[in-house]
Amino acid sequence: MSSYVISGVSRGLGFEFVRQLSASPANSVFGLVRDKTAVEAKVAAELGRTNITIIQADTTNAAELEKAAQIVSEKTNGTLDYLIANAALQAKTALVGFDVLAQDPTALEEDLIEHFRVNTVGPIHLFNAFMPLILNGHAKKVIAISTGAADTEMTLKPEMYQATAYSITKAALNMAVAKFSAVYRREGVLVMAICPGAVATGGLQIETEEDGKLAMEMFARFKEYSPTFQGPEPVEDSARSVLALMNKATVDDGYAGAFLSHTEKKPYL
Ligand SMILES: NC(=O)c1ccc[n+]([C@@H]2O[C@H](COP(=O)([O-])OP(=O)(O)OC[C@H]3O[C@@H](n4cnc5c(N)ncnc54)[C@H](OP(=O)(O)O)[C@@H]3O)[C@@H](O)[C@H]2O)c1
Repeated sequence: MSSYVISGVSRGLGFEFVRQLSASPANSVFGLVRDKTAVEAKVAAELGRTNITIIQADTTNAAELEKAAQIVSEKTNGTLDYLIANAALQAKTALVGFDVLAQDPTALEEDLIEHFRVNTVGPIHLFNAFMPLILNGHAKKVIAISTGAADTEMTLKPEMYQATAYSITKAALNMAVAKFSAVYRREGVLVMAICPGAVATGGLQIETEEDGKLAMEMFARFKEYSPTFQGPEPVEDSARSVLALMNKATVDDGYAGAFLSHTEKKPYL
């Protein structure tokens, strides 16, 4: 039996991680969300499993995360095996570059700070809140869900000017992962970042015709970066391969503090 905490499980990859991990009744799966009532109803309707606990916790709120860790601790006798920082923000500003964003410096700065709070500071608070439990767990694995967009190669090769705040704050997340590993590897904790590929979660909000055009432009850059890229992969497949890599990786074989694609190969797409 293993225990898992995953942040941001209301939808997308987070919900799929919960679905796959809770399929084994021996596992205990804890999902952190911003709207507990709504997600509990969704879990009951779509999964109806008793080994899932949904906990209220905005990952930008350190106090809520501490409370969440207490709730988990009471149910697991102070232990946790796996922690997955999945919650993230990819706002509509993802569709344009610094040339367009420069038109409103105040909005640009607020956008950067908001992405930093959710994509970098949130996982740092999450890791700190749950690390005492992880140190008592048997697996001792801490995973950040990152993105190939955080690798400068994926920006430079296709001149991908989009996803500015998202890429910058995920690159910072990758460094935070390395820093956590620098502290906790010696205690047997694997901390690593994994890119799940491009996944069909609808995470990018396409609402207008103009959004659609901008999104197509971004996909054209993806294709330039990776000519074999055919479009986002199903969420089930991506989640399965992320979990497979999480299970395979150990602290002693070069994974500690690393940032890797779920396929362990480049290109990320
Ligand atoms: N989809 C892709 O193609 C892709 C590619 C590379 C990397 N990734 C990474 O994979 C992960 C999952 O992506 P996704 O596409 O499944 O995302 P998504 O569909 O946009 O879902 C994001 C999740 O994060 C939650 N969240 C956002 N801010 C939060 C906060 N402050 N506190 C708690 N939860 C919060 C959201 O909850 P609410 O419902 O409350 O908003 C939602 O459950 C992310 O880390 C993303 O960067 C995705």
